[in-house]
This record gives sequence, C-alpha cells and structure tokens, in this order.
Amino acid sequence: MARATQAIIDLHALRENYQLAKRMAPNASAYAVVKANAYGHGLAPVANALKASADGFAVACVDEAIALRELGVLLPILVLEGPMDALECQSAIELDLELAIHNQQQISWLQALSGGVVHVFVKVDSGMHRLGFAVHEVPGVVSQLRGLESVNGIQLMSHFACADEPGHPFVAQQMQALQTLSPMKLPMSLCNSAAVITLPECHKQSIRPGIMLYGSSPLVDKIGPELDLAPVMTLQSNIIALHDIRAGESVGYGQGYIAEKDSRIAAVAIGYGDGYPRSAKNGTPVLIKGQMCPLAGRVSMDMITVDVTGLDIHLGDTVTLWGTGLSADVVAQHCDTISYELFCQLTARVKFRYLGG
Ligand SMILES: Cc1ncc(COP(=O)(O)O)c(C=O)c1O
Repeated sequence: MARATQAIIDLHALRENYQLAKRMAPNASAYAVVKANAYGHGLAPVANALKASADGFAVACVDEAIALRELGVLLPILVLEGPMDALECQSAIELDLELAIHNQQQISWLQALSGGVVHVFVKVDSGMHRLGFAVHEVPGVVSQLRGLESVNGIQLMSHFACADEPGHPFVAQQMQALQTLSPMKLPMSLCNSAAVITLPECHKQSIRPGIMLYGSSPLVDKIGPELDLAPVMTLQSNIIALHDIRAGESVGYGQGYIAEKDSRIAAVAIGYGDGYPRSAKNGTPVLIKGQMCPLAGRVSMDMITVDVTGLDIHLGDTVTLWGTGLSADVVAQHCDTISYELFCQLTARVKFRYLGG
C-alpha cells in the first residue's frame, strides 16, 4: 500500500459552514474567502462546491481572482489587497473584479484607465494600521473616486484587529472610528469570521467569512465544534512501526521524549515534510481508534512518534492528526499557532481526497 498520508476534504461540511455564516448575517451578502488556495483546502474544489450558493468570493490578489474566473466562476470576486500595478487594474476591468483600494498609487492607476469600469471597496484604516486610508481621508478619497470614469460603484471596507477576543476594547475603538463615516451612507463590509460571530451590529451590507467556512474557530476562547462549525479538512496517516521501550529510554531526535514508564511507541507516517508542524510539543494529541494519544518526541521530516501504551493498536491503523474528532484548533494550541497556518502549510506530498463534491 502507498503512503497513507492524506487530507480528506468534506465539501458538504464546507457548504454547511457557509450557510451558518449566512444565517448569522441574514441581511448581508457573504463573500466566501478563498485566498491562499482556499486556506490550503484547494481552490478549484472549494470554489466549485460553493459557487452555486455563495454570493461572491474574496481573494488576496488578482492572480487568485484570475484563477477563479478560469474555473468558470461568474460571481463577484473581491480582491482584498487590490491591484499591485496598472496592468492588474486593466485585468480587473476585463474580468469584472471588485478591487480594494487602499492607497493613492492605486487611484492613479485607476485614473489612467479607459475602456471600462470597475467596482471599488475603499479600505479604511480604522486602527489596524496595515492597509487603508485614515478615517479623515476617506471622504476626500471617495469624492476623488467618484470623479473617475473608470469607477462605477464605491463601498467602504475595514478590518478588525482584535475581533477574535470577544469584548476587547480595541474593537469598540475601531467601531467608533468607523461610526464617523456613517453619514456618507455608503455600503460597508467590516466582518471577518470573528466579527460575523461576535459583532452582529457590524454585519452591514456584506461580510467576509474565511476560517469559519473551513470549520475552525476564529475566536481565541472557543474551538470550532463549540460554534457548531463542522471540520472540513481531516488529515490522516497510519502507523508504520510499533516499539516497546523501557522506562528511562528515549524517543527521536535529541532524545526529545524520555519514557517515565515502560511504553509502547507508534511511528506515524507524517512529518514536517508533509506540513505537520515541527513546533508540535510532546503531548500534542493525535486520534487513533477514537482515543487521544500524545505525541512523544520531536516531529521529524517524514514521521512522528506517539505514545500508545496500553491501547489495542496495530500496524496500519489510521491516525487522525486533525479534523473529525480532533479539532485543528486544539492541535494549533499545542503548536503555539492557529489552525489557519496548519491548513496553509500542508505540502505537495499530501494527497487530497474530496468528498461531497
Ligand atoms: C481583509 C480580510 N477580510 C476577511 C478575511 C477573512 O478572515 P477570517 O479567515 O478570519 O474569517 C481576511 C483574512 O485574513 C482578510 O484579510
């Protein structure tokens, strides 16, 4: 049998999670965020699974938008970082893309355009200081854009820095800054997944759910299943070796684990060469036959080692690294990261299998 390492992608769960986002913000249109290869889940299958029900898609860059149009996607596509050069503005016209506009250079490219129109989202820097115009600049930017032949629709968008921490005072500060723009009466898009869940008053005209579509929690104090999100990616491999070791013996590189008692150690065919994080600490859970087993020893390129002492476990048994039965949010906590990164960093060696397409 070939190496069993695979990511199983449940497209039914993806659609259910999208519908959950829609139910949470029933009056807003929902751009499904599919940047970075649909958070590592595969752009084409994810877009194909959502295109009948989604209101639109959001991507980071024009190249990702072109890939969606090449897949035959006809829905609105919002480019979150906007154009990187004048040529991309031209492509946006030809492909009917919606562009986030966050600096004057992009406006100068729009100024020089002819032969078509483009819909823009003026990015407002309400406090995150990553992209966007300062709040006081926004009215001026909007009138500048209104004067351009190449612009035919204007919305405002912004992004919260701390929406993943419910009750964080910086959220209120950003909301207050945005409030000053309400008299402009422009449609607004403010919410990522965290804000979709925790800030209903900010849903406005459109939302931009990302991680929640893939079944993970956007909130620091909850995991996906606690929010009724269904895991989309289940990462699996199997046991390729079993060893009995004595108390005091060590496992793996650098003797990263020392057994406190006589133990049974399973080697599992997955490692950082597949994208399983090397930062996973001893004790990080994996799921084998319904039982949580702790990682024992450092993650190596092609393998991990797991303590399966006392369990009825055999060579070839399936091991779930995250997904159904073991939230990627839990694994991420053990690796000092977030599930977004776990999903995005799987490598080409992992085979992808799609269910429910
Ligand atoms: C501008 C913008 N909107 C929405 C999202 C989606 O965020 P999330 O995946 O947390 O829902 C992102 C993701 O980074 C983003 O950059």
